[in-house]
Amino acid sequence: MDIGTGDGRFVYQMCQKNPEKFYIGIDPAQEPLQKISEKIYRNKKHGGVDNALFIKASVENLPDELTDIADEVHVHFPWGSLLGAMLSGEAASLGQLRKICKKESLLELITSVDPGRDFTQMEKQKIAIPNDEIVLNFLVENYRKSGFEIREYGFFDSGNWPNICSSWAAKLKISGKRQLFYLISQAI
Ligand SMILES: C[S@@+](CC[C@H](N)C(=O)[O-])C[C@H]1O[C@@H](n2cnc3c(N)ncnc32)[C@H](O)[C@@H]1O
Repeated sequence: MDIGTGDGRFVYQMCQKNPEKFYIGIDPAQEPLQKISEKIYRNKKHGGVDNALFIKASVENLPDELTDIADEVHVHFPWGSLLGAMLSGEAASLGQLRKICKKESLLELITSVDPGRDFTQMEKQKIAIPNDEIVLNFLVENYRKSGFEIREYGFFDSGNWPNICSSWAAKLKISGKRQLFYLISQAI
């Protein structure tokens, strides 16, 4: 499951790479998804895939039909209230994510917030740049309250990012001195 899927590139590429698995991309904005959500219906020879589904929804209100079905949930370069929820460990949205997760499934957050360029968004979402103190004193507890145990987190300096299948990774990588933050938690 890819929450805040954007243009759906991650879902599409994963579908091609792992045809035996099924991928669902979710986003409240449908326009960026137009290209890929049309492409999936093509003949397989022309880039079609039969293991993808895109749903228009927000993390705050995920369809009940998705309850307890996800083996993995990805949140890559979230923005707006999705970013706020993930970096604060907000209970209502994390509760929605826990709802769709099978027990022991993994929730992966990858994000990059720039204190200069993203200042307005940080103020609006009431979040700070993630660091060890925030994770250990704050996120560990908030994620646990919502049914997720943080298993791993870390940072990559600018110029040292791993390859990530995301259109936004490509954009952010070249724009400035952004640090990458990742957090992997497990549904308990
Ligand atoms: C910067 S884009 C990242 C898109 C994609 N994950 C990527 O890596 O290319 C952030 C996405 O988060 C979505 N988003 C914002 N608020 C959301 C919410 N409350 N629930 C789900 N998605 C949300 C936006 O519509 C947007 O597509």
